[in-house]
Amino acid sequence: MGRLLVTGGAGFIGCNFVRTALSATDHRVTVLDKMTYAANAASLAGLDPRRCELVVGDITDAVLVEGLVAEADIVVHFAAESHNDNSLEDPWPFVHTNLIGTYTLLEAVRKHGVRFHHVSTDEVFGDLPLDDAVKFTETTPYNPSSPYSATKAGSDLLVRAWVRSFGVEATLSNCSNNYGPYQHVEKFIPRQITNILDGVRPKLYGEGANVRDWIHVQDHSRAVLRILEAGVSGRTYLIGANGEQDNMTVLRMILRLMGQDEDDFEQVRDRAGHDLRYAIDGRRMRDELDWVPRFTDFRAGLKQTITWYTENRDWWEPVKASTEAKYAKAEQ
Ligand code: NAD
Ligand code: DAU
Repeated sequence: MGRLLVTGGAGFIGCNFVRTALSATDHRVTVLDKMTYAANAASLAGLDPRRCELVVGDITDAVLVEGLVAEADIVVHFAAESHNDNSLEDPWPFVHTNLIGTYTLLEAVRKHGVRFHHVSTDEVFGDLPLDDAVKFTETTPYNPSSPYSATKAGSDLLVRAWVRSFGVEATLSNCSNNYGPYQHVEKFIPRQITNILDGVRPKLYGEGANVRDWIHVQDHSRAVLRILEAGVSGRTYLIGANGEQDNMTVLRMILRLMGQDEDDFEQVRDRAGHDLRYAIDGRRMRDELDWVPRFTDFRAGLKQTITWYTENRDWWEPVKASTEAKYAKAEQ
């Protein structure tokens, strides 16, 4: 049994990972989370306090981080500013948390000889054409588009440098778009589901032709656990589930599943610099780590996600109005 320090464990993927880790292993978990607008204490409700504790704090706080890292066996680093649209409004929190925060954690694991897993995104590779079946691989050159993806790319490179220059024991993973329970309502799928539940028309950016490679968050969590078990230090793992869908198709699927007219949505101004397509070649996870996704039916995963948001209004309702107000202000 080991002690995991999970940064960002009160956010979407972090809390799902904590839940999976507690049920699938004997590990104890310390969550370090700043509790930004993106976090929700309710996402960790009901977990065994003997195995999971929440420390509210900032990953850029070197003194706090060093104390926690010294007590950990493995650091699993999810904490980040994660939303592209926000990074276009104000890049500074992205530079601060994603770069300085990762640097702070790396210095602490270097000092204490603690293993590190860095959770990153396929967006570091930039985007792919719509009319070509090519996919991202572990050797695709970095070419990020937004302030968010540029800071994630920078944080990945810091991890690689700390492995090479200082012998830090670290693995990296770059995953595609996650969906599932506990995702903030600023993101595409929960935004549209909760709009429909509120009687508001869903919002599609531009023509809706952009493609995302959807993976259920529980599959991502299992993949990270597998890397902790069997990943090779210094190596990068791409995590995906062959879930490519264009945004228009996803939105129409949501509308139909919720009993609405599939054309009942609004097309709004497109995102600046909007990446066209992401797609993961996940062969390394399958061939080297024997990991395959379990949620292979996207429509069924979406249906389950709609049910979760329908049954958990208390979880998302308190932040819905402020999220939509932020979008309305950005559109002015
Ligand atoms: P999220 O925005 O839902 O959660 C981020 C969490 O980090 C929040 O709980 C927040 O409070 C915390 N945090 C932010 N700044 C912090 C700081 N300075 N100190 C401590 N905690 C801080 O994000 P998410 O969607 O769960 O993404 C988690 C990680 O996975 C990120 O690193 C993201 O880049 C990566 N990722 C996300 C996706 C996706 O589809 N959402 C896909 C691939 C990779
Ligand atoms: O690929 C992994 C990335 O996926 C992660 O690194 C990011 O943290 C995560 O936020 C996500 O980034 P995207 O920008 O792809 O996700 P988002 O949910 O913001 O948007 C998904 C697609 O839907 C994108 O093409 C933009 C579009 N969109 C989004 C919103 C919020 C809309 O059409 N309407 C919307 O209201």
